[in-house]
Amino acid sequence: MLSAFPLFPQSASTVADRVDALYFYLVAVTLFFTVLIFGLIFYFALKYRRRSEEERPRAIHGSLGLEIFWSAVPLALSMVMFFWGASLYFDLTRPPRDTLDISVVGKQWMWKIQHPDGRREINELHIPVNTAVKLTLTSEDVIHSFYIPAFRVKMDVLPGGYQTLWFEANQTGEYHLFCAEYCGTWHSSMIGRVVVMDPVEYATWLSGGPPPESMEAAGERLFERMQCHTCHPPGPGRRGPSLVGLFGSPVALQTGETLVADETYLRESILNSRARIVAGYPPIMPVFQGQLTEEQVLELIAFIKSLSEETETRP
Ligand code: CUA
Repeated sequence: MLSAFPLFPQSASTVADRVDALYFYLVAVTLFFTVLIFGLIFYFALKYRRRSEEERPRAIHGSLGLEIFWSAVPLALSMVMFFWGASLYFDLTRPPRDTLDISVVGKQWMWKIQHPDGRREINELHIPVNTAVKLTLTSEDVIHSFYIPAFRVKMDVLPGGYQTLWFEANQTGEYHLFCAEYCGTWHSSMIGRVVVMDPVEYATWLSGGPPPESMEAAGERLFERMQCHTCHPPGPGRRGPSLVGLFGSPVALQTGETLVADETYLRESILNSRARIVAGYPPIMPVFQGQLTEEQVLELIAFIKSLSEETETRP
């Protein structure tokens, strides 16, 4: 139906039609009240206009029934907005458990994308259809915004941390990818395309070209090159906390706080190790800020995550 309506982008994700439905509800409610209010202003202005100099309006004593009516109806309409919007928001912000995880680094003025097996692309995102995809996004410089209109998803991409965005494309094809946050001279050229492919085609696409090094393997190599393993070896006798099984598990800090080791925590601990010290360890780790690119940090995190997956599969 919407394809006949050139005002609207194609819809190609599982949430697209739901977002549109809510949008149409908001537009319908807004239009109805705009027309009603303007219509009544004109109607009353004519009907109750002053007809002579001596005319004095009658006093109005109010109507309880009318007041209940015009309070209850807008309340019901806005509660529909609230619960409908909230349920959509929760679905949009909570990715399902099994997702294809892809990392995205924005920089002036391009999108650098890396698939888990190491395949990289710039300003293009190839994904399989009918598969939940989770993006981990960060920026190397200023604020960008990752926007795929056909999927009805958009996420601001900020430097200094990670944002996540998930979607499931339900139609193969090519779709626009935009930067939706003004980010400097060539913001307007920070565009690309999303290619939604059949899973078999996607697998073929992934295996095309020279075999890339997986993010995990690149992270492991970097881990040794930066001498991380001297303090964080898997075995005992370490000066730093063990990284085996760390991802996704609780960490007790020197301050008495406990937090769960997620991507954001790992990124901070790599780049600015003094920010949160793990209980029982001296603050001796060097600060890696400025020595690693965002892509390298993502690779290190992929490696650290893999150390947790191994422990899960071991009985
Ligand atoms: Cu990046 Cu606008």
